[in-house]
Amino acid sequence: MGSIPAANVPRIDVSPLFGDDKEKKLEVAKAIDAASRGSGFFYAVNTGVDLPKLSSETKKFHMSMTDEEKWQLAIRAYNKDHQSQIRCGYYLSIPGKKAVESFCYLTPEFTSEHPRIANPTPMHEVNVWPEEEKHPGFRDFAEGYYRDVFGLSKALLRGYALALDKEEDFFSRHFRLTDTLSSVVLIRYPYIEDYPEPAIKTAEDGTKLSFEWHEDVSLITVLYQSDVQNLQVQTPQGWMDIEPDDTGFLINCGSYMAHITDDYYPAPIHRVKWVNAERQSLPFFVNLGWEDTINPWNPAHADATPDKPSISYGEYLHGGLAGLIKKNGQT
Ligand SMILES: [Fe+2]
Repeated sequence: MGSIPAANVPRIDVSPLFGDDKEKKLEVAKAIDAASRGSGFFYAVNTGVDLPKLSSETKKFHMSMTDEEKWQLAIRAYNKDHQSQIRCGYYLSIPGKKAVESFCYLTPEFTSEHPRIANPTPMHEVNVWPEEEKHPGFRDFAEGYYRDVFGLSKALLRGYALALDKEEDFFSRHFRLTDTLSSVVLIRYPYIEDYPEPAIKTAEDGTKLSFEWHEDVSLITVLYQSDVQNLQVQTPQGWMDIEPDDTGFLINCGSYMAHITDDYYPAPIHRVKWVNAERQSLPFFVNLGWEDTINPWNPAHADATPDKPSISYGEYLHGGLAGLIKKNGQT
């Protein structure tokens, strides 16, 4: 087998998106546009987020959780006593079968008094946390990180709006900490001496995978990963490696962006290679609020109406997450 070429994934300094210099913002927007129309991926650098701290706090959390604690926080798929935890909580590994494990949480604003929690609405849940005495500072750190990556995402959405020739707040006006359906997922891929065979999938082209090809269910995805090569993107020239870079966030569009732009910014198809290494994958899936709806248009043919229905974000997310589990299995 020949070596796989690397995809063109530019590094973009996104710091101007936090400021007032319109010229500089338009330059960033231009770079986002080129990446979105190219491989579909870019690295956002100069984000202001403390990445070494994100990595070390997450590692401390993953490594100190006992099996009993994971069980107590488990989502419904792993603990049938937790019927209301469909998204939030611990996703367990299964010795001999499943290697990956993760912890998911939503906006800290979802409390029992939140109107969409008090009047239960799908996709809205109150976060569950490990005991403070056993994991001192973890909840504080994790909620702080949510606010930080939310702020970065809001800036990125300003960049995407400008890239698409829209008002700067075209996306961000639908993106509020109080009701965003965005999720942080802290994924741990372990090193295992005797790697369980069932945890390794084989792609059509023979590549060994941890997660099969898919488009992200998101508006955009903001991902921190360890410095271990694993992702591949499908291009007209075939599968290409995405080089790792733990000094930035890897950004790509999800299928809601593809839908509303009539595939002008496609959701790149990508997959996770199987790598036997201890590593982290920490995505923030940027989602809008339950009722937010952006009507599809085609940026290349502004006068033509695309043959795509308007869909609310809640409806999109609900269907999309179920579809991904059906296609690629429970994570
Ligand atoms: Fe993905």
